[in-house]
Amino acid sequence: MEVTNRYATIKHHIDGFPKESDFELKSVTLSLSLEAGSNDVIVKNVYVSIDPYQLNRMKKFSSTQMASVFALSLSPGKAIDAYGVGRVVESTNPGFEKDDLVVGVIGWEEYSLVRRGDMLTKLGTTEFPLSYHVGILGISGLTAYGGFFSVCKPKKGDKVFVSTASGSVGNVVGQYAKLLGCYVVGCAGSKQKVDLLKNELGFHDAFNYKEEPDLKSTLKRYFPDGIDIYFDNVGGKMLEAATDNMNYFGRVAVCGVISEYTDAKTLAGPNMLNVVYKRITIQGFLAADYMHDFADFISKTSDHLRNEQMHVLEDISHGVESIPSAFIGLFVGDNVGKKIVQLAEF
Ligand SMILES: NC(=O)c1ccc[n+]([C@@H]2O[C@H](COP(=O)([O-])OP(=O)(O)OC[C@H]3O[C@@H](n4cnc5c(N)ncnc54)[C@H](OP(=O)(O)O)[C@@H]3O)[C@@H](O)[C@H]2O)c1
Repeated sequence: MEVTNRYATIKHHIDGFPKESDFELKSVTLSLSLEAGSNDVIVKNVYVSIDPYQLNRMKKFSSTQMASVFALSLSPGKAIDAYGVGRVVESTNPGFEKDDLVVGVIGWEEYSLVRRGDMLTKLGTTEFPLSYHVGILGISGLTAYGGFFSVCKPKKGDKVFVSTASGSVGNVVGQYAKLLGCYVVGCAGSKQKVDLLKNELGFHDAFNYKEEPDLKSTLKRYFPDGIDIYFDNVGGKMLEAATDNMNYFGRVAVCGVISEYTDAKTLAGPNMLNVVYKRITIQGFLAADYMHDFADFISKTSDHLRNEQMHVLEDISHGVESIPSAFIGLFVGDNVGKKIVQLAEF
């Protein structure tokens, strides 16, 4: 049996702001019969993750392409691998059977042929909506968990600042910090997002960074006693302003620098004298560094969800044709929470 497999790809490398005309939809015929003994798996994709780091893979060159197997350079016209969940339609791999629900590296496409079943895991439970396994119980959640608990080393009462706080990673960080008893302030790019942070997610305070001409004094206003932890999703001027307001022995987890992905000219650095004299730790990290904490992360976060102590923010578009606009939307702040594209009914 054969199926038509539609996928979203780039027409050429993208340096700068992504636009619809940089992308195209392609289709190929995919045979659903696998060679015996190949250990391959074919997945019908249900939800795929839409993530900012993919832009760095689309560039002619970015240092990210050398640093992680998950961020290798993308070739125009070729399928784009991405995290997601789906259902097995064919398998010669003893670890997977037809109809199994799986999570792992699939792609921005309707079906994925996963060689040797590499980087796929059987989903053990359907307790939560399937989409949660792409976001809060997936890599975004693990990023928040590893970055906050292991990199920031938080204590009850710490004063925590989170940028891109209504985004996929940021909203989870803020909620973990709140649950631990920290004082949490987030920033986001619209009034609607700020209201959401304060009124629904329980942040102590929040502000719209686009309305603040002087970020250093803004942070001084929100943190008159200084910041203990800054969870950085944006880099640039915000990192500079946050380090200016850090307390002694403050910790900065550098999760991402989205403000620099579309415009390298926004690059800015912290005042290193502050870093030295205040003994500030600034540490970059990747979610992959914390795979060994995955079981712990799932167990604790699932408990929070069961106890209704955490909210789930998801922003779901539909159909493979919506992938380019969903992706572009990340760089103009269209999404509220985890951006996901649904490709098929569950
Ligand atoms: N280290 C890791 O392993 C890892 C894993 C996942 C993600 N990340 C990084 O974490 C960050 C957040 O990722 P995410 O998946 O949670 O995305 P997200 O926050 O859900 O979506 C992106 C958001 O970034 C904000 N944004 C876009 N352009 C901006 C700019 N020029 N300046 C400031 N904010 C901008 C927008 O929100 P506003 O409306 O608030 O502007 C947008 O909604 C990214 O830097 C990403 O690369 C790192």
